[in-house]
Amino acid sequence: SAVAYGLDAPFEIEYHDAVPSTNARARELADEGASDVVVLADEQTGGRGRLDRTWHSPSGGIWLSVLFRPDVPMAATPVFTLAAAVAVARAAREAGVEAVIKWPNDVLVEVDGEERKLVGILTEMEGEADRVSWVVVGIGINANVDPAALPSDAGATSLSAVKGAPVDRRRFTQRVLETFDTVGADPEAVLDEWREYASTLGRRVRIDTPGGDITGEAVDIEYPGSLVVDTGEERVTVAAGDCDHLR
Ligand code: BTN
Repeated sequence: SAVAYGLDAPFEIEYHDAVPSTNARARELADEGASDVVVLADEQTGGRGRLDRTWHSPSGGIWLSVLFRPDVPMAATPVFTLAAAVAVARAAREAGVEAVIKWPNDVLVEVDGEERKLVGILTEMEGEADRVSWVVVGIGINANVDPAALPSDAGATSLSAVKGAPVDRRRFTQRVLETFDTVGADPEAVLDEWREYASTLGRRVRIDTPGGDITGEAVDIEYPGSLVVDTGEERVTVAAGDCDHLR
């Protein structure tokens, strides 16, 4: 419970030492009609990533899912994913780790000239196009995790590895949830703070989209989270896709 974990967060907390997946548990709670609940675990035994990938979630990380029922259309939900990235990047910076955000929601940190992944975010939802029923924003933070315990091909690192000391997980989680709650309610504030932390803007990018690759300079982000790319011939607004930084 929230009390046992000692968190004073704007959500009810359901804490587990171990759970298959906090997103799966949050979806279950959604089906039971719950809202404004955070499922938090020390360890996930079946953590899930985007594109049906496995998400390694050893003890020491911060694995959480926020379940809420915003009064918005389906198309507005990308901004919540950006809000999660902003919340974690801000908390990381407060903890002395210069995190940056790669579009749309990869929170990375530069180690020896290479961008390494600190955080994964998986947003799931259900409802109608004009109004969602619920949203689950799953946030996986490699907090006090030995990068050797993470898959070696994932290019991942952790807060403790970058800092050389463990972070206070309770405080970190509290800051993430506070920021997610306050900034998440204000889409313009999300976009502004996202721009502040973005490593993608001003870079040459290649985005793999369902309609084919788009290459150009990333010039801005637009509500609800689309990247504006200048291809040299035109400005394209890209809603989703896998983004590579070319330089
Ligand atoms: C990614 O592929 O980058 C997204 C990873 C999302 C991982 C988090 S950990 C908490 C929540 N529960 C899950 O099973 N996945 C998300």
